[in-house]
Amino acid sequence: MIEFSLTGWNGLLCSTRYDHETEAFFVIAVHSRTRGPAAGGTRAMHYSSYAGAIDDAMRLAGAMTLKMAAADLPMGGGKSVIALPRPRHEIDDLTWRRILSIHAENLSVLNGSYWTGPDVGTTSTDMDLVHIESTFAFGRSAAAGGPGSSAPATAQGVFAAIKASAREAGINRLAGRRIAIQGLGAVGMELARLASQDAANLVVTDVDPERCRRARGFGALVVEPDEILQISSDVFAPCAMGEVIDLEVAQRIPTAVIAGAANNVLADAAVGDELSRRGIVYAPDFVANAGGAIHLVGREVLGWTADEVGAHVDLIGTTLGRVFADSRRRGVSTDRAARDLAASRLSLVGTAS
Ligand code: NAI
Ligand code: PHE
Repeated sequence: MIEFSLTGWNGLLCSTRYDHETEAFFVIAVHSRTRGPAAGGTRAMHYSSYAGAIDDAMRLAGAMTLKMAAADLPMGGGKSVIALPRPRHEIDDLTWRRILSIHAENLSVLNGSYWTGPDVGTTSTDMDLVHIESTFAFGRSAAAGGPGSSAPATAQGVFAAIKASAREAGINRLAGRRIAIQGLGAVGMELARLASQDAANLVVTDVDPERCRRARGFGALVVEPDEILQISSDVFAPCAMGEVIDLEVAQRIPTAVIAGAANNVLADAAVGDELSRRGIVYAPDFVANAGGAIHLVGREVLGWTADEVGAHVDLIGTTLGRVFADSRRRGVSTDRAARDLAASRLSLVGTAS
């Protein structure tokens, strides 16, 4: 499997390191530097194999290249994966600090070819610690002089994507419409809050019962994790892990719109074609979830204010409008149209335009 992943990848560099003391396995995949230094978050979780961790890093790094290009940010794509020997909550503080310290050392070896930030399993506080030893970390907490977590901006962008996609599906107001949210983490919970403010009818799930309990505070109906894909909804918002929509799910999911935060939500391109055939409006993940990247790169590279970041995040709706129009005009899936938009921005780099 590892040979298959490595030979099938079109990125620049994939580095790995194993630490005997913590039993953690570190991967940094640098996919593209065409538009600027590579950037993408650090995902820290337990994987069933190191090959799976490498594969995840490489696919997520490729998605970051598309995300940066579609959002017109001057960065390339990369991703770090730290494959933990056991689930994150079972790692003690001392071990975790050593893991972050090794990660910082790996970043320093790459010396700015790749910049990291928070992702699943890491937070702004972790970036504070990484940044002490290596400056190549975005998303430190405000207390440490950074712009804070990317999650609120990601949720704002996903909400803009939901509204634009709903309009494309003929739904002009979210009030009273059913939004099904899978995953109530940093992004999903904030999205639930935003949607509840617009009087949407929420159906949510998470594997963590405490998060479900909090969402009930927004008036949400909680269902079991394995029920959410069967719930009839106007909008399905995947905000947990990737590849939740495979061909079989695409053939039956009872919704009008799919727009969420999860990276690599479609198992492959054929799934996008099937959603298109069924008339489901799909907001390509790397367009819909770019709010966090816009926040981090906007604040830390481009020197934008929080208001400027907010205005750029809302433009995700405009970018999607362009993707939907192109998809209709050419008769291709929205996923293919968005990939073509990103590809055109990657090929334009360095040419007079
Ligand atoms: P998080 O780790 O805070 O939240 C993920 C949530 O999903 C957790 O509450 C977890 O319990 C839940 N979950 C995991 N498996 C589940 C399952 N099978 N069914 C239901 N719930 C499940 O992560 P965060 O930051 O909220 O990110 C969510 C997704 O959005 C991830 O895929 C991430 O890569 C992506 N993303 C996040 C960005 C950010 O700024 N945080 C930016 C762009 C994408
Ligand atoms: N991990 C987030 C994402 O996938 C936020 C992030 C963006 C982190 C860019 C680092 C750099 O978009």
